[in-house]
Amino acid sequence: MITIKHLTKEFNGRKVLDNLNLELPDGKMTVIIGRSGEGKSVLLKSIIGLLYPTSGSISIDNKEVTRLSERERETFYKTCGYVFQFAALLDSLTVFENVGLSLLEHGLKEEEVRPLVIEKLALVELHSDIMDRYPSDLSGGMRKRVGIARTLISHPSIILYDEPTTGLDPITSRVVHELMRDMQKRLKVTSVIISHDLEVFKYVDYVALLYEGNIKYFGEASTIWESDNPYIYQFIRGLTTGPIQQN
Ligand SMILES: Nc1ncnc2c1ncn2[C@@H]1O[C@H](COP(=O)(O)OP(=O)(O)OP(=O)(O)O)[C@@H](O)[C@H]1O
Ligand SMILES: [Mg+2]
Repeated sequence: MITIKHLTKEFNGRKVLDNLNLELPDGKMTVIIGRSGEGKSVLLKSIIGLLYPTSGSISIDNKEVTRLSERERETFYKTCGYVFQFAALLDSLTVFENVGLSLLEHGLKEEEVRPLVIEKLALVELHSDIMDRYPSDLSGGMRKRVGIARTLISHPSIILYDEPTTGLDPITSRVVHELMRDMQKRLKVTSVIISHDLEVFKYVDYVALLYEGNIKYFGEASTIWESDNPYIYQFIRGLTTGPIQQN
């Protein structure tokens, strides 16, 4: 269980997250929705330890992660996988090197890493013949899947996805959604997804809405369309009638 209590994150005196409370259930998929700039990526980066909270606590399996030493944090976050917004592959490395990087850096030999990379690529439905290609030679959907394969190689028990389908066409988005759901069923990880894509509600267990620094709604995805929560109502209607208002 990921438990976030009274989390506040300020940048130059401006509060992006303001006394935020949220519990993310084990072995389930939760999507975090909210307008652009509300602080969704900041929240995810705080969970993964890439950003340090101004105040408040984040505990994962009853371990207070904000109070870990540098070394403890490094070890601890190996159990978490983070799929960056925009895939964030290294352009000068091949697909094989991108996916296998963490293992190669730890001194494993190429021939040891190769079968592991092939296995992870298969999990995201990519064929091993793309291993020697560079990210610039892949489609957007393929890059996202390579990003996911890279995350899986460290066997995380938690996976955080930042906008896994943004910029993809509807069919490729569906493939990525189904993939996340299938992996979830198979690997039983705790997944947290940031998304602007309403289709995601069909695949996740829970929805959390971030608005003005707080979680204004948390509930089951299956009942989201019947919700009378005013924030959810406005957010979904806003999304379905036009682009999200930028602040
Ligand atoms: N490292 C940083 N330094 C200063 N301000 C930051 C930093 N990271 C994020 N912010 C600010 O925090 C706010 C929230 O940013 P964040 O990236 O979390 O938004 P988001 O909800 O993920 O938006 P989007 O949907 O567009 O990705 C923004 O105003 C952003 O400028
Ligand atoms: Mg973001």
